[in-house]
Amino acid sequence: MSRASAEDGLLLTGIASLVTNDPRFGGLLGVVADAAVAIEQGRIVWVGPRSELPSLFLASAELECDGRAVVPGFVDAHTHIVFAGDRADEFARRLRGETYESILAAGGGILSTVRVTRAASEDELFASASARASRMLAGGTTTVEVKSGYGLDVETERTMLRVAARLDAELPIDVVPTFLGAHVIPAEYRDRRAEYVDLVCGDMLDACADDARFCDVFCDEAAFSVDESRRILAAAAAKGLGLRVHADQLGRVGAAELAAGLGAASADHLDHASDADLAALQRAGTAAVLLPAVSLSMRQPYPDGRRIWDSGVTVALATDCNPGTAYVESMSLVVALASLEMGLTPEEALWAATRGSAVSLGLPDKGHCSPGAVADLVVLDADTYLDIPYRPGTDLVHTVIKDGAPLSRESRV
Ligand code: NIG
Ligand code: FE
Repeated sequence: MSRASAEDGLLLTGIASLVTNDPRFGGLLGVVADAAVAIEQGRIVWVGPRSELPSLFLASAELECDGRAVVPGFVDAHTHIVFAGDRADEFARRLRGETYESILAAGGGILSTVRVTRAASEDELFASASARASRMLAGGTTTVEVKSGYGLDVETERTMLRVAARLDAELPIDVVPTFLGAHVIPAEYRDRRAEYVDLVCGDMLDACADDARFCDVFCDEAAFSVDESRRILAAAAAKGLGLRVHADQLGRVGAAELAAGLGAASADHLDHASDADLAALQRAGTAAVLLPAVSLSMRQPYPDGRRIWDSGVTVALATDCNPGTAYVESMSLVVALASLEMGLTPEEALWAATRGSAVSLGLPDKGHCSPGAVADLVVLDADTYLDIPYRPGTDLVHTVIKDGAPLSRESRV
């Protein structure tokens, strides 16, 4: 959501290195040394070396960055932060050798979160989700995609999307809502899958479409088949929703191919995607959203980010924050994992966590720092963006600037 911001503009000076993601400044990240940024009405109006700053911007309030680095705010393109309870017990069972799939098949996993989420009030869901979103904002995430998918009935799916809308309205962070009624088949439809797919395509979509920008389907071995997913995604597209797909995470079922065929905005996970799948995504303009925190938390091999980047597909990064496979809120950690474990360079990882994610969400004025862009920026407690992957686990966020307004530490948490 856009909101009123610094009325009289803001001038950032003393920036040791500024990541613009603007190729006009050279390289993938368009880094400007000794930079200044001028902001008016929540938008960036000028960017460049301080020595070239036009004098007209000198009247603005000044934020002296004292030799720090500034990067675009992180855009987290895939999260499930609205849920009740947690699954720390399941996490411990997985560490002792049980598998995610066997826990889900026995009625645990996603289904146990569905049970407690259905039982929670809207205010309870809002309270826990807003604590997560606030910590994300404190960590430099200025835009977050939020999925439903722990209701799996019409009423609770709607409630989850209402909570997402409240997060957007009541916190400085921007929220992009996604309908995920097709997360798994709920217990009461276990032997009536076709009826559940009918419900998702019919009444549930009717009730949720107005409150969502995207529709997502978990198209995988333990979830929805390619045919079921195609039906749901086609129905959502007919209602004007953009499409996202949890694709080929647990096995290669043809989900990436489906995403490409439908012109989806993104295919996410892609652990088992083939070269042909990646080529199809690239041709379709479907972004690949990579989720390294899942590999960390699930102790599984990381998808080959190098191969995926080199396929030419647009790469985005996200936390996938959820109570089961990745209870991770930090995009800094995601950038570090992508650099250290997935074969992306630090530059590619940071670009994917900002510009790539914004592209995957259809947000052309986010994820970069150039004239016209929304002034969502992070001042780091470091003089270079390289410290993000170099110093994992350290909070390097000095100041978050949202819509041109610096947020106080108190308002961030
Ligand atoms: O993206 N893969 C499906 N959905 C989530 C997991 C959700 C859960 O386990 O609660 C994911 O990994
Ligand atoms: Fe997910």
